[in-house]
Parts: sequence; structure tokens; C-alpha cells
Amino acid sequence: MEQSPIKKGTEVNLTIESLAYGGKGVAKVNNFVVFVKNAIPGQIVRALIYKKRSAFAEARPIEILKESANATAPRCKHFAHCGGCTFQQLDYAAQIEQKKQQVIDAFQRLAGLDAVKIDKVIPSNNIYNYRNKMEFTFSNRRWRLPTEPEDAPQSFALGLHIPGRFDKILDINECHIQPKLGNEILNFVREKAIELNLKPYDAKTNIGYLRHLVLRFGVNTNEIMVNIVTSYENTDFLIPLVQDLIEKFPQITSVVNNINTRKADVAFGEYEIIMHGTPVITDKIGNLTFEISSNSFFQTNTLQAEKLYQAVIDGADLNGEEIIYDLYCGTGSISLFLAHKAKAVYGFEMIRSAVDDAQRNAEANGIENVQFYKANLDTHFKGYVSFSNFTKKFKISKPDVVVIDPPRAGMHEDMVYYLPKFGAKKIVYISCNPTTQARDLKILFTKGYQLNSTTMVDMFPHTPHIETVVVLKKI
Ligand SMILES: C[S@@+](CC[C@H](N)C(=O)[O-])C[C@H]1O[C@@H](n2cnc3c(N)ncnc32)[C@H](O)[C@@H]1O
Repeated sequence: MEQSPIKKGTEVNLTIESLAYGGKGVAKVNNFVVFVKNAIPGQIVRALIYKKRSAFAEARPIEILKESANATAPRCKHFAHCGGCTFQQLDYAAQIEQKKQQVIDAFQRLAGLDAVKIDKVIPSNNIYNYRNKMEFTFSNRRWRLPTEPEDAPQSFALGLHIPGRFDKILDINECHIQPKLGNEILNFVREKAIELNLKPYDAKTNIGYLRHLVLRFGVNTNEIMVNIVTSYENTDFLIPLVQDLIEKFPQITSVVNNINTRKADVAFGEYEIIMHGTPVITDKIGNLTFEISSNSFFQTNTLQAEKLYQAVIDGADLNGEEIIYDLYCGTGSISLFLAHKAKAVYGFEMIRSAVDDAQRNAEANGIENVQFYKANLDTHFKGYVSFSNFTKKFKISKPDVVVIDPPRAGMHEDMVYYLPKFGAKKIVYISCNPTTQARDLKILFTKGYQLNSTTMVDMFPHTPHIETVVVLKKI
């Protein structure tokens, strides 16, 4: 291994060569890798080494000695401190180029592929105001900006985490990746919560009431859901806030209160109370209408989702006779998109409300050749030693095509090893994390599948997130 020429606590000049997956700049000193926070390719920075390991170091820039040719002014005033966006200061074409390179690197390093070709890259038309869902956090530990006096009040914040700190929340009054109306609602809720003396939850002591504010927008329907997540149930606290909120914003079609009594910092309740309007909002992707409840997954960039699903349709290349399994199907949107081109689609999903949404969505769209099952795919199939036992038990055919869209952690290893038993001719693997996707692909390559095509769809401008659609064919 290359001897490290640098030491913790020292300052070095670094030339940023690329972005690593996750968004940090990558520089090298005599081939020793240094990850640099908030730095973009093309910059030369003077940086302080704050972490040193045997294989790499981490640094933060102190001064930009030379600006990147791809640098651009970030639109957001919170950008320097917010953990939401990572590279608003890098122009969009360069963001896409970097993400593409990260997919290539991941596939080479982790899937063992030599030459990787990204067949198609689909950028986002809207690079601001594109997110249909935002999760803000209430906190009694507001992040104090360096420009603020030490005694500035810190006991109430509603905003986003600062990078790398689970306990500190940056108070946000304007977020450019959500719809503009979201900012008005965010600021109104903050104002009312303070006025009503509602206490934010303290993640360290587990005391306090308000935990999250989740906003969901039906981009093609103009419906809005406000989900207030609290640490216990007391609707008397919320009623005055909700009344004022819906009076001020009559466009809000649904207000729900999720109750999360657990310590886990998730905007996801054990149960919910409908405070106003409907328990779901609807949105449209293409010709299809979807009902989405507060805890169900729905692609967060509605306009790009249509392009993502088109990439899946193109990859699946159906003739109308196929049986399709849609694994990790969420509210069934991919299943419904594929249904009119297939004989039958069977969706599998762990969250009960999403399965119910999926079934309802099928009915609402008049689609009859789909069926959804609640299943934890970490364990669901491995109980069936032979896959025929499963198909016999559920009286469904084996799949010709399997579509997989797992969460960021990728598939459970048992599921990856089981998947080839399905015998599908084609697997379409959608992923929001190329590193876990590459890990899973490596196994599938040893089990009779080969890479046919790779498409990258940018769903999340200014953030390090990457979405890929990989088509595998059975050899
Ligand atoms: C990335 S989303 C995909 C949703 C859907 N394909 C879509 O485009 O709307 C991943 C889905 O996997 C589900 N999920 C996560 N872990 C699971 C597991 N172990 N078994 C089954 N479903 C799971 C989540 O609830 C979520 O709905």
C-alpha cells in the first residue's frame, strides 16, 4: 500500500479530480485518496485533514485557491449548511457527468465488470422544485450559524439535518427542491407551532411532542397532504394548528397525524389519525392515477418517474404474453405501467398500506391483470425450497420477466441468491444506489445472467442520489 504522505491536523493543497458516490470530492496525494467535503471537480483547495485512516483521509476546504470551470452560484441561501443538497454549486451538466462516472466506477469495482457502458442518460428537465415529498424535522437543538451570537435562541427549529449530525437541525424557510407553496406551508407551521407553544421532540432525551412535518404534493393534480408526525397522541394540541392551516391554505386536501412513539428517527408512525380531508392524495404518472397514503412509497420526482418507468418498459421489451413479477412494488406504479403490455403482473411489497394502495390503484385505473401480495422479500421466498412450491401454493405462473426496485440497501442476500430460481428470461433491476446494485449484480452474473443494458435516470438534481435501470438477460 502507498505510504500516506499526509497527517491529521495538517493543511494541504488538493486538486479535486472527481466526486465519490455520496458527493465528496476526490483528490489524490501520491496516489493516497483524500475525500474532501463540499468540493467539486476542477477546484484546487487548501484543506484541513480532519480524519486519517490507513487507506484514505478526509478533509474540509479552508480556501478555494482555484475555482472549477464548472462552478455555478448555488440558488439556495441555506446551501452552505444544509444536508439536503450537496452540489448546487456544480453546473447541472457536470453533475450528470459525475454521476455517470460513479455508476461506471461502482460497476467496475463492485460488480467486477471490465468495460462499462452507460447506454442512455436521462437528465431531469426541472432541476428545481421537482420533489413531490419533503420531510422536515422539528428539533429543540437548532443549528447555530457561525454568523449568529452564541446566545441566539436554539430551542426551536423546523428544517433539515446539517450534514453528518443527526441531532442538529438547520432552520429552513426556503427549500428550492420542493414546490414553492411548500415553503409557505413550512413557515406557517413553524410560526403556529411556536405561537401555540408546542414542544419539539428531543431525539436525545425522547421528551417533546412535534417530530416531523412531511409535505406531499400531487404534482399533476395539485392535491397536498400535510403529515405531522408526533411522539404521542394528543389531537387537542394539533387541532388549532390544523384549523388555521387549512383556513390559510384551502388547497390542502389532507392533513394526517402519524404517531411515532419509537426512538427511531423516522417520519413514519405506528398509526395515524386523519385530521382533515382524505387519508390519501392522488397523483398522475402518464395516464395512470395513483392514490398515495402517508406511509407509502411513491417516486419523489413525479415528472422523471414517467421517464424512469418508460426506461423499464423499454428494457422489459414485452410482447403482451409475459408473466411479470414486480418485486418491492410499493404502491404498484411499475406494475400498473407494465400491465397493459403483459399477460399478468404480480407485485410483492412489505408495507401493508402500500399493498392496499396498489390494489386500489389497479381498480381505480380499471386494470385487472395485476395482483399484489404483502411479502417481506428478505425471507418470503427462501421458505420455498423449490420455486414450484411457491407457484403452486399461490396458483400463479413462473415469471418471464422480473422487475426489481429495492430500497437503497439493495436486495437481501438470500433474495439475490434465490432470484435465479425464478428462471426469468429477463431481470430489470432499478436501483437508487449503484453500489448495492453492483454488489447484487456480481452475484447474479455468477448465476447465469449477463448485463444487457444500463440506463441512468437523474431523479434528484443537486443531490448525490443516482437512479439506474439495468437489464439482465439469462444466458
Ligand atoms: C424504491 S421503492 C420502489 C417502489 C416502486 N417500485 C415504485 O416505483 O413506486 C422500494 C420499496 O420496497 C419496499 N421494501 C423495502 N424493503 C422490503 C422488503 N424487505 N420486502 C418487501 N418490500 C420491501 C419499500 O416499502 C418500498 O415500497
